[in-house]
Amino acid sequence: MEYILGIDLGTTNSCVFYKDEGGSFKNIPIENSNTIPSVVAFKDDKILVGKQAENQKLILPRDTIYAFKRLIGRRWESQFLQNAISHYSYTITKKEDATIRVIVQNQEYTIEEISAMVLLKIKQEAIKSLGKDIKKAVITVPAYFNENQRKSTKDAGIIAGLDVLRIINEPTAAALAYGFKQQKNQFVLVYDLGGGTFDVTLLEINDDVFEVIATAGDTFLGGEDFTNKIVEWVERDIIERYERKFEISKDPIVHQRIKDAAEKTKKELSSRNLVNIDLPFLFTDSNKNTINYSSALTRDELNDMTAILVEKSIDILSGVLDHLGFSKDDIDQVLLVGGQTRMPLIQETLEGFFSRNVSKGINPDEAVAMGAAIQGSLLVDDQHTSVLLDIIAQSMGIMVSGGFYEKIIEKGSVIPCSAEKVFTTIRNNQTVVEINIFQGEAWSAEDNTYLGSIKIKDIPPLPQGEFKVNVRFIINSEGILRVEATNLHTGEIHDLTIEGSSGITSDELKKLKDKCALSYEKSEQRAYLMSYVELVKKLIPEAIPVLQRSNKPLNKIEQYKMFIESIERMKDISADKYEEYLGTLKAIASALDTLIKS
Ligand SMILES: Nc1ncnc2c1ncn2[C@@H]1O[C@H](COP(=O)(O)OP(=O)(O)OP(=O)(O)O)[C@@H](O)[C@H]1O
Ligand SMILES: [Mg+2]
Repeated sequence: MEYILGIDLGTTNSCVFYKDEGGSFKNIPIENSNTIPSVVAFKDDKILVGKQAENQKLILPRDTIYAFKRLIGRRWESQFLQNAISHYSYTITKKEDATIRVIVQNQEYTIEEISAMVLLKIKQEAIKSLGKDIKKAVITVPAYFNENQRKSTKDAGIIAGLDVLRIINEPTAAALAYGFKQQKNQFVLVYDLGGGTFDVTLLEINDDVFEVIATAGDTFLGGEDFTNKIVEWVERDIIERYERKFEISKDPIVHQRIKDAAEKTKKELSSRNLVNIDLPFLFTDSNKNTINYSSALTRDELNDMTAILVEKSIDILSGVLDHLGFSKDDIDQVLLVGGQTRMPLIQETLEGFFSRNVSKGINPDEAVAMGAAIQGSLLVDDQHTSVLLDIIAQSMGIMVSGGFYEKIIEKGSVIPCSAEKVFTTIRNNQTVVEINIFQGEAWSAEDNTYLGSIKIKDIPPLPQGEFKVNVRFIINSEGILRVEATNLHTGEIHDLTIEGSSGITSDELKKLKDKCALSYEKSEQRAYLMSYVELVKKLIPEAIPVLQRSNKPLNKIEQYKMFIESIERMKDISADKYEEYLGTLKAIASALDTLIKS
């Protein structure tokens, strides 16, 4: 049986599920936890991922990359990015083409590469624990992610050496985890407030059909913003009491300590009414006195300072209901997803809004990954009758004369879908037509997100309006857009698949994939080698009965066993030996696999 991973690549934490032989959907724990921190740290010449990287945050704030999902698929000029930069302790820079990179230890990385490091770690841990080579995955994204962000996430999967079967929306995945095999007809509203993003999605579940009716959200509203409110509060308090102002660029460690304390305080305030914030030896004042910072924050104070964020989410939610003409009573179930929904204020506000209890029936940390694994199994298993009908969250179109925006595919269209329109030249003797593609709802093209452009050159001189192009938008089942522009005079077709906004070409993707695998192997040489040792150990007992049945000798197996035992005994492995052993282990694993399948 081929395993397919369901991966929730979260802003703060990531989670992975798979379907086992018995048909149950199971979590793959990583380092004894059901989730892994989405953090990558660079230390000496090693790359650390997950818990180890998180532990590095306080010591090496400049070399530890966190909350990078908020940066994926964004361009430098985006307002969101500009607002966010002040909260990051690592360096984010702009390339000439307005794409962004992070710089760590004088090296440049795309956000896709950083995301890939987390995905690769998840993949290797899954291989280790399931004892099978795994390539296929379904990865989730916030429903409100635009084309650039989806494409970038998919690229991250490819860089990690994964065959990404599909990109699906997080709230849809959560609903799938909740309603799968429930055989109930109901309207379900998913309120997903994670670390970085907010999504609200309304679905109708009819037996096995999961139909998304509407979705909305904010890719810059999440637990990080709640934490940042406490950070700002502490910083204001320090200014008032000590007349000291910290700049993240000059004092990254102080800033990181405050942020860590803020995060902890926020979580504790979900179960307590008052929390002390103690930060001993935080800084020295102008008289060189050491300041041990100490203060206390109550739940009410936190509620006051974050009420505006909760209101923002409620506005988005009511917007969805109003737009559809739904009343609160039409909703049968409200599902809470995402760690930030553990905050009592959020539960209380929603219970007040809907005048009923909200569901605690799903695990807010795991539901999304579980749903992704369910979707993965539905994709390969044609026995299944379940159907998932998802929609486009934001309209897509092109810029027309005067800088206006003309929509070609409206938000809410069920995917996959396509639509087309004919456009003409706006000037006499126009020789070039440039089709600039945007996504969003604003009437002015530039207020939307730019996705890419297609140029049609060498147009014969014709009066205005005579030259015609047919522009067709095709959205596949992952919600990824391809645009085809047909020159209606020659029949020539120009097409464009939206690239992730770091503009990585498919050639570059291959190179990045090798680079990522190499740097991972280098950092985790021993762990990587051991993952293959574990794999061989799991395959051996499966291979023995196959050999016995065909009366074949077992001496090869004995050799394999001796080889892996010798590796397990080794303490240090030199780089050249490492390559040799890894090659041998891969060959053994593949021989065993072929034998078992024979
Ligand atoms: N007990 C708690 N009270 C309040 N907030 C919490 C609690 N536990 C976790 N959180 C917050 O939940 C957020 C992480 O949630 P989650 O792991 O669901 O996010 P994510 O999946 O990484 O992000 P996203 O879905 O936005 O990409 C963090 O901001 C964290 O501080
Ligand atoms: Mg999440």
